[in-house]
Amino acid sequence: MCIKGKITYSSPSNIAIIKYWGKEPGDQIPMNPSLSMTLDKCRSFTTVEYEVKKGADFSVEVIFEGKRSTEIEAKLQRWFTKISYFFSWLNYTRLRVESHNNFPHSAGIASSASGMSTLAMCLSAIDGHVRNDETQNLQLQSNISRLGSGSASRSVMGPWVMWGKSEEFADASDEYAVVVPDVHADFLKLHDTIIVVDKTPKAISSRDGHTLMEGHPWRRGRIEQANQNLRELIKALKSGDWKLFQKIAENEALSLHALMLASEGGMMLWKGNTVDWMHYIRAERQRKGIPMAFTLDAGANLHLLYPDEARKDVLQMLGDSPVNHIEFIHDQTGYGPEKLLDEYEKC
Ligand code: PMV
Repeated sequence: MCIKGKITYSSPSNIAIIKYWGKEPGDQIPMNPSLSMTLDKCRSFTTVEYEVKKGADFSVEVIFEGKRSTEIEAKLQRWFTKISYFFSWLNYTRLRVESHNNFPHSAGIASSASGMSTLAMCLSAIDGHVRNDETQNLQLQSNISRLGSGSASRSVMGPWVMWGKSEEFADASDEYAVVVPDVHADFLKLHDTIIVVDKTPKAISSRDGHTLMEGHPWRRGRIEQANQNLRELIKALKSGDWKLFQKIAENEALSLHALMLASEGGMMLWKGNTVDWMHYIRAERQRKGIPMAFTLDAGANLHLLYPDEARKDVLQMLGDSPVNHIEFIHDQTGYGPEKLLDEYEKC
C-alpha cells in the first residue's frame, strides 16, 4: 500500500469564557469543563505533504513560519506516538508539515489551539484516504486535537463549544468537545477585539501553568465555581441575557488570574496597561451603558467582546482611550476549520 498527497487546512483559535485551568490525572483530562467561542479570522494554516508506504519508517519535518523547527518536531513526537493509536498508518509515514499563523506572535491569541487543530484536521482527512472512507468523525478530530493542546479540542467546531464532563450535558466529555445547542441569535455574531498591550513571550507556558493547580489551596472551590459559572453561562447563551454573560465572562477572567496569583511562586501575568484597560472599560460601560465584556487568557492582553449593535460605540471608545496599546486585532464568532487543498494519488 502506498498513497501520497498534499493537504491544507486552516483552523481558528478560540476564546474561552469558562476557563480550562488545571488537569486531572490521565492524558490531558481537564479539572473542570470549559466553554469557548470559536474565532473566525485568527487562524493557523497548515499544509501536510505525506507518503504512506508499508515498510517505510515514520519521519516528520516541520517548517514553522518559514523556518525548520526541530523544537516543534521534538514536541510533536510524543503527540504522534499517542495518536498512532487511532492512525496506525502513521508508523510507516513520511510527513512534511508547513504551518503559519495569520496573527502575530504573543498577541494573546491561543496559537496552540489553532495550530494543533489544523494539524489534526489534516491527519484525519489523510486517514479517510488511507482507509477509503471519507466520513469525517468530529469527535475523533476533537479528541486528537485535545491530546496536543486541551483548548485545541474546542477549535474544530463552532460557534460555541464546550469541553469536559458536566451535569448540564449528557453529551459532554472529557475526551472531546461538543457544540452548545440552541444559542440565542444575539450570541451568534459577537465581536472580539483583542487589545494587545504586551508582546513579550510568556514567562511560563500554559502547559506548566496547569500544573500549578495540583495541590492549589483553592482547587476544590475552583471546580465548584467553574461548574456553577458554566450553568449560568449556558442560561445566558440560550436566553440572550447579555448582563449575565458579561458578569460570568469577567468573573472567569479575574478568577483565572486570581488562581495564578495565589499559586506557588505567584504567577503574575498582568501588566499595568492590562489593569488600566479593565478600569477604563468598566468606567465607560458605567458611563455610556455600552454592552461589552472583557476576558483574558493566560497573558497580559485583553479580549473585548461585544454584540454587533455596540460596534460603533465600542470602536469610538477604543479610539478615545487614554490607555496605551500596541495594536487592536478585530475578530468575531466563527465556525471552525476549512479545507483549502486536498490532492492525493496511489503510488
Ligand atoms: O490548551 P492549553 O493547555 O494551552 O490551555 C489553555 C488555558 C487557557 O487559555 C487559559 C484557558 C482556555 O480554556 O483556553
